[in-house]
Amino acid sequence: MKQKAISVAIDGPAAAGKSTVAKRVAQILGFTYIDTGAMYRAFTYAVIKKNLDPKDEIASCSLIPEVDIELLPGGVVICNGEDVSKVIREPLVSGNVSYIASYKNIRLALVELQRKMAASKSVVMDGRDIGTYVLPNADVKVFQIASVETRAVRRYEENLAKGIPTSLKDVEDDVRKRDYIDSHRDFAPLKPASDSVLLDTSFMSIDEAVDAVLKIVSDKTGLEIPCH
Ligand code: DC
Repeated sequence: MKQKAISVAIDGPAAAGKSTVAKRVAQILGFTYIDTGAMYRAFTYAVIKKNLDPKDEIASCSLIPEVDIELLPGGVVICNGEDVSKVIREPLVSGNVSYIASYKNIRLALVELQRKMAASKSVVMDGRDIGTYVLPNADVKVFQIASVETRAVRRYEENLAKGIPTSLKDVEDDVRKRDYIDSHRDFAPLKPASDSVLLDTSFMSIDEAVDAVLKIVSDKTGLEIPCH
């Protein structure tokens, strides 16, 4: 008998370690990982590549019909046939993505895609509005947080490892700016779903955070967690 698909929503502010944790949880459970932030980033890249201003809502939204985004296994992000996996993590995209993510029509287009991706299979989806808006009936909802300072250091180290040049101060400023824009936008702002479990990872290692999420999944769904 085919088992019911299970959806795990992991939301939280920028650089809280959601994608690292979500990716590992998905791998352990054998679920598909969907990085919705990468989709907003890919759209932002498409706007910049066309020499349009991401602060210009009408110009940015005019690209909706021509932007095609695919998420492939292994974290590969394809935008209009181009592999943008690395470039979407660069400061030019990070510094502009919150504008793009605040435009309702772009959100509607990407949310439709996200819901299709989760329709018939078990997924771990990370973002800002997954538990509140994209998958309101998700089986498991986690709201993952960490202090601004911890998040800035994590993102800074991630950038270093990827060879992306940034300063810790710039990363911290960017994290604060994105927190503000993400939680103050009118449509689907960043906020915990009323039925989410709050997970503060400020003082947790990645392994501890992964185990904490797996425990929440097992408590909520009765799923047996494979050895890992
Ligand atoms: O998770 P991230 O840093 O890659 O996300 C990039 C931006 O996209 C961030 O500013 C918030 C926005 N975003 C969003 O508004 N809704 C989502 N579901 C995912 C990301």
